[in-house]
Amino acid sequence: MNGTVPQKYQRLGVNIDHVATIRNARGGRHPDPVRAAHIAINAGADGITAHLREDRRHISDADIARLKDELTRPLNFEMAATEEMLKIALQHQPHACCLVPENREERTTEGGLDVVGRHAPLEPVVKALRDAGCRVSLFIEADRAQLDAAAELGADIVELHTGQYCELALCGDTGAADAELARLRDGATHASELGLEVHAGHGLTFNTVKAIAAIPEVVELNIGHFLIGEGIFVGLDRAVAQMRAMMADARGPVIAYPSVQTVSGAA
Ligand code: PXP
Repeated sequence: MNGTVPQKYQRLGVNIDHVATIRNARGGRHPDPVRAAHIAINAGADGITAHLREDRRHISDADIARLKDELTRPLNFEMAATEEMLKIALQHQPHACCLVPENREERTTEGGLDVVGRHAPLEPVVKALRDAGCRVSLFIEADRAQLDAAAELGADIVELHTGQYCELALCGDTGAADAELARLRDGATHASELGLEVHAGHGLTFNTVKAIAAIPEVVELNIGHFLIGEGIFVGLDRAVAQMRAMMADARGPVIAYPSVQTVSGAA
């Protein structure tokens, strides 16, 4: 528990990509990621995240259209900053768009966006999405130079990449995991001082979520692979509810619970 100082409410975004991975292993419609999204919301998820990859290996264009039509909570659309994805995002106008780096050979998103090195190509994408009313998030490492560049670019949000911390913690390299956690904490403070909203995600499990959930500036976690995998054994609703409970426990008392945030963004 994070002491007794009340913290901001922390949202849980459930990433349902890997329900589509299982569906696509056989083609057809089962299991349906949109059904998973409804189950996750009923179990306490505050929003749904889906990544439409350029190679469509899991989520499809039709899934995004159905999620946008059917969801009662905000959709966080993960996308590469390409012309094709920008067009799709502008067509659906999700609540938030999270720009991620994409590499065709990777198994999952491997590192954060290089906002410092890619300012010029990112700028028009961020602007077009913001002009359309989407909240723009950049998935980046907790590196001060990258955070400064994100603020300069006009992003609303940064999502700090927790993958490295999770890997180190799970393989028992405590010293290195603590150092990475300190870097994430410093990044969260720095981002918040720059006026950026701070999210975090990637690789989080029941064993790693508490340390990240306890970082005061982090107001949203996005979690996918572990929850979908755990859902196979205990049911997705139970896995989501347990994750929510662990986040709440790590966070301690909350300043104020928002009234339910709906797709219109009303809080
Ligand atoms: N956040 C971002 C930006 C991601 O790309 C992913 C993976 O799609 C996640 C969070 C969720 O990561 P995981 O599936 O490992 O929980």
